Order: sequence, then C-alpha cells, then structure tokens
Amino acid sequence: MILDILIVGLGEVVSPPCRGPVRGGEMSQLKIKKDVNIGIKDGKIAYIGKEKPLSSRVLNASGLVALPGFIDCHTHIPFTGSRGEEFLMRLEGRSYMEIMESGGGIFSTVKSVKTASEVRLFQDSLKLLVEMACHGITTVEGKSGYGLDEDSELKQLRVLERLNSSQPLDVVPTFLGAHAFPEGFNSKKEYLEYLLSFVDKVKEYTDTADIFCEKGVFEPEDSKPFLKKLKAKGFRIRLHADELASSGGGKLAVELGAVSADHLISADEETLKTIAGSSVTAVLLPGTSFFLRERYARGDFLIANNGIVALASDFNPGSCNIYDPLMIMHLAVSHNGLKVEEAITAYTANSAHVLNMAHRKGLIEVGYDADLVILDLESYRELPYMFSRDIIVATVKAGRVISGEL
Ligand code: NIG
Ligand code: FE
Repeated sequence: MILDILIVGLGEVVSPPCRGPVRGGEMSQLKIKKDVNIGIKDGKIAYIGKEKPLSSRVLNASGLVALPGFIDCHTHIPFTGSRGEEFLMRLEGRSYMEIMESGGGIFSTVKSVKTASEVRLFQDSLKLLVEMACHGITTVEGKSGYGLDEDSELKQLRVLERLNSSQPLDVVPTFLGAHAFPEGFNSKKEYLEYLLSFVDKVKEYTDTADIFCEKGVFEPEDSKPFLKKLKAKGFRIRLHADELASSGGGKLAVELGAVSADHLISADEETLKTIAGSSVTAVLLPGTSFFLRERYARGDFLIANNGIVALASDFNPGSCNIYDPLMIMHLAVSHNGLKVEEAITAYTANSAHVLNMAHRKGLIEVGYDADLVILDLESYRELPYMFSRDIIVATVKAGRVISGEL
C-alpha cells in the first residue's frame, strides 16, 4: 500500500485513552507517542510509528504536536444577525432572562432568522465554519431553534444539511424547536404538540432533539411528556439543563436516558451525582459562563464521581459569541476544575460520543478518520497557557490540510 500523505517528525501525538464515552479518572489517561509519523490513506489514519512507509506526499511537522481535530458538540449555528447591544445591556445590569422575557434575546435572533433568505442564512453560517476550521475544529454540531415555526425550523435544518455537503467540516444537525415559547399559542403544551405535528419531516434531517428545559422556559413537567414522545419516535434526546436556575433538567435527562445534559452551571450536588452515575454525558459550556458572567459548572466534581464529561462552545449570538476551542479549554481548566488531559478527552472522544461518532472520530488511531489539529507547542500540557497565541499550524480534515500549512 502506498499512503496518500505521511506527516513526519511529530514531537508528540496525543490521543484519549479509548473511544468515547470515557469516564471519570480514565479521562486523564491520554496515550502519548513521541517522535512519530502519521500516515493517511483514503481519509483515514493508516499508520502511526517511527518508520517512513511509502507515501505520495510527505508533509513536515518537525517537533509539532498532533491532537484529534476538535469536535464542537454544542453550537447554535445556523444564525444571522448581531446581539451586541444586548451584551452591553447586560453589563448595565439587565439579566439574560429579563431581556428574553421582554421580547429580545432568543426572540431577536428568531426574527433575524425568520426574515433571512435561506441563501443568506447559509452564507453567514458558511463564513463561521471557515473561521472554525482555522481554530482546529473538524466536526461541529448545529441546532435549529431560531425558527419556532415549521417553515423556519425546517429552513435551518436544510441549511445545516447544505453546510455539511458544501465545505470540509462535518456538520451534525439537532432539532431544537423547543428553544423558546413563541406568541400565538395558548399554552406551552399546545406549542410542544405543534412541534410534534411536524417531527416526521424533521426526522428526514436529524435523529436528535434538544430542549431548553429551564425555569420560565420549558419546565420539566412540560418537557417530560414531549421528550418521551420524541423518544418513542426514535429521537436521541439532549437537554439544555440547569443553566440559569436549578430546574430539574439534569435529573430529567437521567430519567429519560438522554444522550446529554448541557450547561449544568446551576445544578445542585445531588443532580450532578445522579448524572455522574448515569450514562448521560455532561456537556460543559464554560464560554457561556464567561460571556454571561455566571458561575462555572463543577467539572471536577462530575469527574470525581466517575461522570462522562464533554466540552463544547455553545457558540450562539446571545449567550456565547465564542467558538475558539483553545479558549474554551483554557476556561475549563481555569474555572471548571478540569485537568488539561481531561479537557482534551472532553473536546474529542467524549464529544464524538455525544454526536454518535465515537467509532470513527475523537482518537488518533489507525482506522479512525484523519481529522487532526497540528499545534506549535513543546507539549500538549502548554495548551491552556498558550491558548491565545498563534499556535495552530494546520487543521487536517479527512486527510487534507484545510487550513494553515505543513
Ligand atoms: O445555550 N439557553 C438557551 N439557548 C442558548 C442561548 C441562545 C441565545 O441566547 O440565542 C444557550 O445558552
Ligand atoms: Fe446552547
């Protein structure tokens, strides 16, 4: 066999200990190979070692560090429009929930997305994916939820599908029709029933659904029957849970066998223990804590209790206008109590698990997709310290250099 590409001279090749889900203490047990070469064939990793097998192309990565490409398993692309004024309003003392309750917040983006043409929504989001690729991201999840009616929700799902097929990153869609309670319905129950009336069309685009389960949005009693019906229709379930108040979302995630409970900054100890003892992945989003100036989820407590922890950006125009995985990992290490090794596993193997891709993404191993980020560091351990420096040399996606140069 002749390889397509051989990346030679890597100082350090770093990979999580095994495919996701990786739990508790195991999250920090990275596999590290020093001074090796990585061979790629047909978009997959085909060789890791000290030899130099025959290859059509040889790329020099002398002394650099390779990690699995970052997998952002929680963002709110596609969207359009800015909420910069809202950010300033919060600095003047208005809260995220107050702004939303007075028709701003999520509703402001809903208005922008509803009125934007499909092409516009596609183009604005495509630009974001190009930026994300430069930051080492190789797979990204995106959600509907800025439509809140059948046409606009399906429009976002179509845009996500088109984004996936028109640029190199994998784009994984999630249905978040239950993101906010729009006008025109008598009750939340009535709105959730309305969403269920068109989920068969949603199913053509995604098998995963999410809900903003939060005090003042969809409380657990609204969420539970809705999510049960979605589960019965074959959807994988995720929840925005215990974000701004301890609302019971995390416990509901465990009760329903959800894939993930995301945010958890307000979850109490009992909830965190319940999640840690279950198969639900806790997706921590420290960028949102930073952007909203809120507290940080207790990642160290979840890991000490043998939990499965993933990290993501929550990139969206309101609560977190940050997609940079290096910054998110810096925050996770500084404020969520994660070790750098745990943060790496959380952004790769465990994020792949949340997106149902752990069998082919999140590790640097023979047979895995050749999605890599190549960093100019002495060692991966410098990552949270060097996060704001120009350390990303290249992003490799399915065996092709899509950003930077080697
Ligand atoms: O994860 N919490 C709900 N949804 C998003 C925010 C979306 C928005 O503000 O536009 C979040 O923080
Ligand atoms: Fe979110």
